[in-house]
Amino acid sequence: MRDLVVAMTGASGSIYAVRLLEVLLVAGRRVHLTISPSAATVLNKELGLKVNLQDFDARQLLPTEEELISHPLLQGLEGSHSGLSDFSSVFSDPQQGKIIYHHHSDFMAGIASGSFLTAGMVICPCSMGTLASIAGGHSENLIQRAADVHLKERRKLILVPRETPLSSIQLGNMQRLSEAGATILPAMPGFYHTPRTIQDLVDFVVGRICDHLEIEHKLFKRWGDATIEGD
Ligand SMILES: Cc1cc2nc3c(=O)[nH]c(=O)nc-3n(C[C@H](O)[C@H](O)[C@H](O)COP(=O)(O)O)c2cc1C
Repeated sequence: MRDLVVAMTGASGSIYAVRLLEVLLVAGRRVHLTISPSAATVLNKELGLKVNLQDFDARQLLPTEEELISHPLLQGLEGSHSGLSDFSSVFSDPQQGKIIYHHHSDFMAGIASGSFLTAGMVICPCSMGTLASIAGGHSENLIQRAADVHLKERRKLILVPRETPLSSIQLGNMQRLSEAGATILPAMPGFYHTPRTIQDLVDFVVGRICDHLEIEHKLFKRWGDATIEGD
């Protein structure tokens, strides 16, 4: 199994990325992770997490017990089928997948080159700024460069944008990237699976990302599948 690349940028919805990492690690995948400075700001604003991009430790992506109790977004995640208590063991269990962190300015990282083989890249959440830079081929940081590499190598590139409403410039950038081979998978949960918690909504989006990465999961009840328990 080839490694995956996950990048977090400064759009709202950092909880999607934290959950995605958890699911990929539980699936036993090696993940090359890079985080933009704006993504670190949003992680702090939305989840109360303090991520040090110079001295990164994957455990920084875990809320403390105190944060878990006090943060309304995180409360819905506790004690479910793959809750945050499992998440902490994910980072310490060598049987699980692994995160290989790269600083966003490290162009020496393997993922900056097409000769480094991967099974695909996800940018989650993807800001309009990063989206525009990739559409313009700027490659100004490792995230944009790795995305550019995935496009030129004709590998999977899944972008999870979050913005509303969308300008014609943003829509044009998405169309351009879609035509270049990227999958535009907006953080836009459905409601037909009768979600009850924030985690249900998060899992819908993360599950759709996993579908496109060809990773098996039971994160939501599929339309038309009567074999899955649920409503
Ligand atoms: C709390 C917060 C929420 C934000 N939400 C969004 C958003 O939903 N979508 C977006 O495109 N930009 C959003 N931004 C703005 C981006 O973070 C900003 O454009 C930044 O330059 C993106 O840089 P990056 O793509 O390198 O991460 C947000 C910023 C902050 C501080």
